[in-house]
Amino acid sequence: MTLPPLRLLLTAAGCPGASTLIRMLKANGEREITIHGVDMRAEAVGRFLCDGFEVVPPGGSPAYVPALLEIVRRERPDVVLVQSSDEVEAVARARGTFADLGARALVAGPDAVAVCNDKAAMHAALCDTPVLQPRSLVPQSIDEFVAGVHELGYPQAPVCFKPPVSKGSRGFHVVTTEGGDRLLERRGGLATLTLEQAVAALRHGPFPHLLLMEHVSGPESVVDAYVAGGEMVLFQAKTREAVRAGLAMSFRTVERPAHVAASRHVCRALGLEAFVSIQFIGDHLIEVNPRVSTFVYQEDFILPYLGVKHALGELDATAVARAQSRLRTSRRSIRYYDQVFWDE
Ligand SMILES: Nc1ncnc2c1ncn2[C@@H]1O[C@H](COP(=O)(O)OP(=O)(O)O)[C@@H](O)[C@H]1O
Ligand SMILES: [Mg+2]
Repeated sequence: MTLPPLRLLLTAAGCPGASTLIRMLKANGEREITIHGVDMRAEAVGRFLCDGFEVVPPGGSPAYVPALLEIVRRERPDVVLVQSSDEVEAVARARGTFADLGARALVAGPDAVAVCNDKAAMHAALCDTPVLQPRSLVPQSIDEFVAGVHELGYPQAPVCFKPPVSKGSRGFHVVTTEGGDRLLERRGGLATLTLEQAVAALRHGPFPHLLLMEHVSGPESVVDAYVAGGEMVLFQAKTREAVRAGLAMSFRTVERPAHVAASRHVCRALGLEAFVSIQFIGDHLIEVNPRVSTFVYQEDFILPYLGVKHALGELDATAVARAQSRLRTSRRSIRYYDQVFWDE
């Protein structure tokens, strides 16, 4: 332990990637890291793995940021890491207040975060870049929806729709003419409808805000990166496999120069900052998550730790290049369930 100790505030300490993140931050081999976790649920796993833990209101609540600031005043963290999409915008808006209290909130600016969190706005913001995106439309009525479904290739090709603001695949639907026998062969229990069924479901009540898209196919992959001033500093590309309930259960690190190049355009065009996770299907961009996510760690490439060091001015260009060169594309990862125990 050769470097000064660090204090860290970690949000969503019960999210799927949290337990490994906490373990890997502590296994950095250079310094002691004290982690204070927060979550909206008392039974978040971070309660058992962090050095301190408390319950805070949900990220969307007006009481969320004041609760975090109260903790920052008391715990004096050097850095705040945000893991949930529901919180990142609120923290981004209060970045300055966190900084005034001596805590670096590692999030992008509020405008960049707002664009990422709305997939329709994100695709629109990138339309003048070379980044390949599925064709998409935002219909305002059931008639525009039906016209849009045909414009995007139905019935020859499937079309999909989803809420522009969502996560964990909630609300994702495919419109297809495929028969029931084919549907049963599909992985992941996709919600699949014919156009007639979709119209019947959407006809009632006010037409919902939805993003209608070309349904693209191909392997799902992600570029995880740490970004400074819109420039990707450190990155890792991985596949997303064995998706269950919207969550990838296994990952393979891969060499994906085209996705890395596209991700650079995304970060630059959106003015991103800190941690981002950029998702592709085949070569099509489908999502930008402007927050810490589930990483594939190496003992000598702990992306969130390297990002924290960069933010604190501890990594120069040579150290960044050295870290990036340590990345191994032989790295594999599976997610599994574990348990913790306590008496009440
Ligand atoms: N245009 C598309 N074509 C094919 N599949 C898609 C498309 N958009 C989304 N999906 C599928 O739906 C999942 C969830 O969509 P995504 O945009 O990543 O939203 P979120 O992860 O926020 O719910 C993706 O992982 C992918 O499997
Ligand atoms: Mg996604």
